[in-house]
Amino acid sequence: MAVTPTSSLSALQVMQDAPVIPVIVLTDVAHAVPMARALVAGGIRMLEVTLRTPQALACMEAIAKEVPGAVVGAGTVRSPQDATAAAKAGAQFAVSPGYTRAVGQACRDHGLSLLPGVATGSEIMMAQEDGYNALKFFPAMQAGGPAMLKAWAGPFWDVQFCPTGGVTPGNALDFLSLPNVTCVGGSWLVPADALDQGDWVRIEALAREASQLPR
Ligand code: 3PG
Repeated sequence: MAVTPTSSLSALQVMQDAPVIPVIVLTDVAHAVPMARALVAGGIRMLEVTLRTPQALACMEAIAKEVPGAVVGAGTVRSPQDATAAAKAGAQFAVSPGYTRAVGQACRDHGLSLLPGVATGSEIMMAQEDGYNALKFFPAMQAGGPAMLKAWAGPFWDVQFCPTGGVTPGNALDFLSLPNVTCVGGSWLVPADALDQGDWVRIEALAREASQLPR
């Protein structure tokens, strides 16, 4: 049975807010708030904090509480339990590296909009059956890059993509210029060494450049 996502913030709205969704890996809760403030100051509000570290949920909670200009999302959501924990920590959207119906249902139960990850036509069709037309193409470069998106534009004319994985400032425009790409995802906005050095100025500058990419 086809089901419709019910979050107040749609996945398409998440993708439309800026040309880049930062894929963030945090290992220190003290980094979360100043990093989020720097990204917001640079024009990036949709923040995907990946559930890859023991500190991720606490970081999401801190950003949700203390940075009103930010919209916190959870990345690397792989299970219904991840979705539940993310919602409890204040996430408003979720991003997953693949798609399962259970993850989709859990996100809907918690009012989280979801960008399901897809890499094949069958996966796109399964996500569309459940009402998802705004999808993450992952891993974008490894799975075919811009050429793959051009091929999908025909049969999947009603789908918008956020390519993520191997996207860099050097190739972002190759994706953003495509009509079926609303935004890209990438980790380059929040380098690990900038976090370690507390270099919020650099993160703000990277965000500003990213937020001004044409699309
Ligand atoms: C990820 O989930 O790690 C993203 O795909 C980020 O990939 P990137 O580091 O190539 O931007």
